[in-house]
Amino acid sequence: MTKNLFIALEGIDGSGKSTQVRLLAEKLRDAGYKVHATFEPTNGMIGSLLRNILKGSVKADERTIAGLFLADRLDHILNEEYGLLKMLGEGYTVISDRYYFSSYAYHGTHMDMDWVIACNKMCADLLRPDVTIFIDVPPEVSMQRISAGRQSTELYETLDNLTNVRAKYLEAFDKLKDQEKIITIEGNQSIEAIAGDIWDQLSSSFK
Ligand code: TMP
Repeated sequence: MTKNLFIALEGIDGSGKSTQVRLLAEKLRDAGYKVHATFEPTNGMIGSLLRNILKGSVKADERTIAGLFLADRLDHILNEEYGLLKMLGEGYTVISDRYYFSSYAYHGTHMDMDWVIACNKMCADLLRPDVTIFIDVPPEVSMQRISAGRQSTELYETLDNLTNVRAKYLEAFDKLKDQEKIITIEGNQSIEAIAGDIWDQLSSSFK
């Protein structure tokens, strides 16, 4: 491997991203790599506020929410203690459960996606993922998984919304296909099969 990679995992709610981030991180650690597994919204101060908004305990306009996700992301990249640029500089392979494509897809359903992309340009200039992996799960399947696993659902977790979000992901991938490396993985299969497909796509970068 020539340099330590920054890998972003994306997908609609209930797509199994978090499990796949954990499995990939374990695999790379076992192979001797230093790995920093992380997520957005973060658990920093802005991320915590966002979690309260997602739970419905704090109300905010969609444009404000998009702005808060941007601020959370800038902190995620730039924080002097735990920021991604710092971790990459120290030789960690970084795997993030969500990054800016989440903003394009989730906020792009409520406002002009180009505005969201333009707002995130600084993030893309600071730190573009080496690869974005999209775990593609039918919204019906992800809604079943969400309902089976939890008592309450979050702000964006309805079938209609997740159907729109999936469509917006595809639209954003198409719009940015010349700037970004995107790999789509069939998500409607077992956890092990998804992990296998992800590894098939990435293993050549870790030789
Ligand atoms: P999670 O379920 O993966 O923890 O993500 C929390 C929610 O945050 C999920 O519904 C997607 C949403 N989200 C946005 O709306 N915009 C963003 O930029 C990010 C990173 C997440």
